[in-house]
Amino acid sequence: MSSATKNIYDDVTYYFESFSKFLSKAKIDGADIWNEQWSKLTAQFPFEADKDIRMLTVGAGAGYRECLIIQHLLKRHSSIHITVVEPAQKPIDEFKVKAAKITKEFPGVSFEWHIQTFENYQKAHRVSDDERNGSFHLVFAGHSLYYMDDWKYALMGCTVTFNQEGCWWLQYQSLLTSDDLKSHLNRCSNVVFDQVVYREDPYDISDVFDESSNEGNLLLDFLVQRSGFRKCAPSDDQEKVLTFLKDNSVFENGKYWFRCDEEDVVAMK
Ligand SMILES: C[S@@+](CC[C@H](N)C(=O)[O-])C[C@H]1O[C@@H](n2cnc3c(N)ncnc32)[C@H](O)[C@@H]1O
Repeated sequence: MSSATKNIYDDVTYYFESFSKFLSKAKIDGADIWNEQWSKLTAQFPFEADKDIRMLTVGAGAGYRECLIIQHLLKRHSSIHITVVEPAQKPIDEFKVKAAKITKEFPGVSFEWHIQTFENYQKAHRVSDDERNGSFHLVFAGHSLYYMDDWKYALMGCTVTFNQEGCWWLQYQSLLTSDDLKSHLNRCSNVVFDQVVYREDPYDISDVFDESSNEGNLLLDFLVQRSGFRKCAPSDDQEKVLTFLKDNSVFENGKYWFRCDEEDVVAMK
């Protein structure tokens, strides 16, 4: 992508504004489908019911999906500790409000908060299979690996922190890079790529095609992960991107629905 534009994550406030705009354009509230899929997934976890469960979540944002996972885990486990790694303060504050409600209702659930990038967390917490150094039964990274400087290194950090007893590593990833992830996992000797859970999630991106729409430009910036794309990117790049977005959308009732597929890539040790 053109260097005339900046990485959208350089301005975290702007990033979350555009991310919220993107989320608000979803056709369906995916919670029901997701819950059904994750209810099945968590029921397959091989942990004993009376075990204290340790979960790591990487790039949690406001913790929406983590809270759903916790609800599923609570069906079988009463003691769950969640280590949250997320570099941005604002979503962490929102997550803490949800977490307080959970811990009030379920005293066996506890959280620890690391407001830092996963790269820095990895440096500060030496990864090891030794439980005393902090290994986990479950590692969840929701749409966050592609923000890492080196996702393969981050992935290694996720997988070696599994504890020994047949654990799972879970990744919630877009179709764009999940192929890379799957082929990489297939080459890793310390984990077994287990399954993929697929969802279709169309987003209304009609405003993106209206040059004068501030909302559309905000949305466009999230889609290309650059800020000021319409203002700063060369017109050739803009044309290519807009053609790609249109070609990958379905036009229905006067709206362009962009086909955003999502895959949860599940691996276990
Ligand atoms: C697209 S959001 C996903 C939020 C949430 N997990 C979800 O699935 O809705 C990406 C998240 O990754 C976080 N992030 C960005 N760079 C990161 C890094 N280097 N380490 C950990 N998290 C990072 C962002 O702050 C943001 O909360």
